[in-house]
Amino acid sequence: MAINPTEGLTTQVETKTRLKTDMGPEPASLAIYPSPPTEVETQPTTALIYDEWYPAMRSQSLKGKRLRTAMLLGIPLVLGRKADGGLFAMRDSCPHRGIPLSCGWFDGDRLTCKYHGWAFEPRSGQCREIPSLTSIDTLDPSKIYAVAFPCEERDGYAWVFVPKPGRGRVRGSDNLPSIPETPKLGTRYRSAHLTADLPCNIDHGIIGLMDPAHGPFVHQAWWWRTRQSIHEKEKHFEPIPEGFRMSAHAPSGNSAPYKLLGVYGEPITTIIDFVLPNRRYETIQCGPKWFSSLTTVTPTTPSHCRIDVVAAWNIFYNVPLVTTIAKFFGGRFVRQDQETMIQQAEGLKHNPSLMLIDDADRPAKWYFALKQARLEASEGKGEAKHPMAGPVKLRWRS
Ligand code: FES
Ligand SMILES: [Fe+2]
Repeated sequence: MAINPTEGLTTQVETKTRLKTDMGPEPASLAIYPSPPTEVETQPTTALIYDEWYPAMRSQSLKGKRLRTAMLLGIPLVLGRKADGGLFAMRDSCPHRGIPLSCGWFDGDRLTCKYHGWAFEPRSGQCREIPSLTSIDTLDPSKIYAVAFPCEERDGYAWVFVPKPGRGRVRGSDNLPSIPETPKLGTRYRSAHLTADLPCNIDHGIIGLMDPAHGPFVHQAWWWRTRQSIHEKEKHFEPIPEGFRMSAHAPSGNSAPYKLLGVYGEPITTIIDFVLPNRRYETIQCGPKWFSSLTTVTPTTPSHCRIDVVAAWNIFYNVPLVTTIAKFFGGRFVRQDQETMIQQAEGLKHNPSLMLIDDADRPAKWYFALKQARLEASEGKGEAKHPMAGPVKLRWRS
């Protein structure tokens, strides 16, 4: 069958540019996973980092007896909230014969499989009942476990701990790494969330996120910056555990939102951290006023990812509609990245050779080196060695 590539691109752009600021309700029985199979085949895949917490979905959509589905690292999940308020995440597959558990029923305490009625406690995955057993059967259902993952609520997300395949059952009570959270510098703040699917693998999502040189081209807008505002910058970086920090600095003079902060008449400083496997923390302080965000790029499959932003702030706390305005501009900003990466994904389908240049792409080089070290360490090849020996000064124009 002949395929018109231009037509394919148009369709893809139309279906993928919808930016979700909230994942609306969706009946579990109609659950459809993202990533059409043709794209999974054509987009380059990448290695994934396990034994980490990843955000599966917004936690506000988990309420009542509703079951929701999500995909993390290629693993289909069914999520819900127990009557006691605790979240759960199970592999969306019955251990008996593999039907998605999301096709079954949840009564607030147990998840019952639609096919033969096996009932599971969903946080542990323990089987509590097999209706077909008779009084002479010796099989003990409680010895059977469906796959369940540690799942906790933080910053409005359901975070799921995804263990390395073959690691065996992991409990929430095990000594797990702490759950990521956007820093809050006070108790009174507003917050907002944004999310966007990206049709490329996590590496491209992450290096797109930390790339300083695309700003004047991708994010041109009267309220942000123009291409003419490009100028030379010098930024200081330092190594931090499993990542790097753009040291405290006065933020970019050519961007309007930062200029707005000038109204407070105090020095403005920004710190930006990147931490494996996928996290960018930004904290802006202006005297007692602050803005912080946590941006994560989560691999839904080895070839696709999703960007999630949670922001918290006390800046302009009393300005009416400030959350609506922040979501509008934040949404525009993320959509500009998303649209660019949808176009980039068209190019990446053909597996081109790529390049990273100094200094603008040096953070991307550090990311790849950090990831490689982490993957090797997880295979038992010694301690993960940090690619940075010490503080570094980088220069670029943006
Ligand atoms: S397939 Fe789930 S109980 Fe049989
Ligand atoms: Fe961007």
